[in-house]
Amino acid sequence: MTDTNFDAIVLGAGAAGLMAALTAGQRARRVLLVDHADEPGKKILISGGGRCNFTNIHTAADRYISENQHFARSALARYTPSDFLEMVNRHGIAWHEKTLGQLFCDHSARQIVEMLIAEGRDGNVSFAFGRPVTAVEHADGQFRVTIDGRDVTSSSLVLATGGLSIPKMGATGFALDVARRFGLPIVQTRPALVPFTLGEEEALFRSLSGVSADVSAQWGKTAFREAALFTHKGLSGPAMLQISSYWQHRTPIAVNFLPSAESDWLLAEKRARPRAAFRTALSRRLPERLAEALAARLELDGEIGTLKDGQLRRAQERLAHWAFHPNGTEGYAKAEVTAGGISTKALSQKTMGASKVPGLYAIGEAVDVTGWLGGYNFQWAWASGRAAGEAL
Ligand code: FDA
Repeated sequence: MTDTNFDAIVLGAGAAGLMAALTAGQRARRVLLVDHADEPGKKILISGGGRCNFTNIHTAADRYISENQHFARSALARYTPSDFLEMVNRHGIAWHEKTLGQLFCDHSARQIVEMLIAEGRDGNVSFAFGRPVTAVEHADGQFRVTIDGRDVTSSSLVLATGGLSIPKMGATGFALDVARRFGLPIVQTRPALVPFTLGEEEALFRSLSGVSADVSAQWGKTAFREAALFTHKGLSGPAMLQISSYWQHRTPIAVNFLPSAESDWLLAEKRARPRAAFRTALSRRLPERLAEALAARLELDGEIGTLKDGQLRRAQERLAHWAFHPNGTEGYAKAEVTAGGISTKALSQKTMGASKVPGLYAIGEAVDVTGWLGGYNFQWAWASGRAAGEAL
């Protein structure tokens, strides 16, 4: 980094910052991409179990949570999963669809980071990694950023330092602090795509650590049909992570343990195998340890043939609407993303630029747009990065 003046300084070399920088660089803008971490894209590297679930072919604005449900629509429509896939294919990166439209690298997430860096080099982007940002000032239409003791200036500044999730990996509230200083409103942040913790009353379920089941998890009108996993602290697995992004404290989550069961299936079990124990009837459809725990909570014991039809109907009803009362979540330390962030009210949905501060942009997870599990968050990072990169 020898130059001191740029057209744009992008703070944060994660998914969104890399995309914004390479896009602007390839449009012949002089761009500086800064990160306090010594290597870019650390979350890309660990994502998808090291294979990076880099997009989802079912991307649509209704798969994102935001105070303004429509905000993401424009950027997502202008840079689609196919657009990102075109870049992936051009770099010869092998990929596959795993499930539910989720696209993963066949080999390594590192290929995605290398691709983005190579594209940045094509655009002559200057990189400053492993450099702490100590000050951001704004005067006379210029941003002055102090990086590792040196001042650099530019007419545009992009906040792309992500959310608060996984502080151990270098996540900070930097973007939110800078946004606040510039008077941009912030939507209260909270951990999202995060495991739940269960209290003493539901301790029985914590003893099921490692057991998983295909369930439907519901909060309000929102439901996800995927796997749930019991942990020694509470509940995890895709269904629970998804619903955690919607959940509010001190409210229950309704779990249907048998989303595919036909009505009156327990009565059918009673007729077919009256001598079987109740918990054995459950274990024909659920993992054995879970069946035992549920039978214990339902306080139904003995041969199913000895139980009344009414008891079995009530049991079916409870199994289809089991109320869990999480006492919290595992917090930012375990959250895949941060919900909330820089309010979309302050930003242009076309450029991601702050309407009240010309030249200031915010993209990626720092913004109040949070995707479902399954590649949606990276697609938002690519699309919002692209939108800003085209406006810089
Ligand atoms: P991101 O966090 O990627 O980048 C921010 C950058 O800013 C980092 O490089 C950081 O070092 C830097 N930074 C922070 N503070 C700074 C400061 N003060 N000064 C300078 N630099 C600073 N999503 C998905 O779609 N598919 C997936 O498979 C996964 N998997 C996954 C696994 C795990 C374990 C996690 C934690 C998250 C995921 N995600 C995911 C979510 C995804 O990683 C996330 O949404 C994007 O990385 C967000 O991209 P951003 O560029 O906005 O932030």
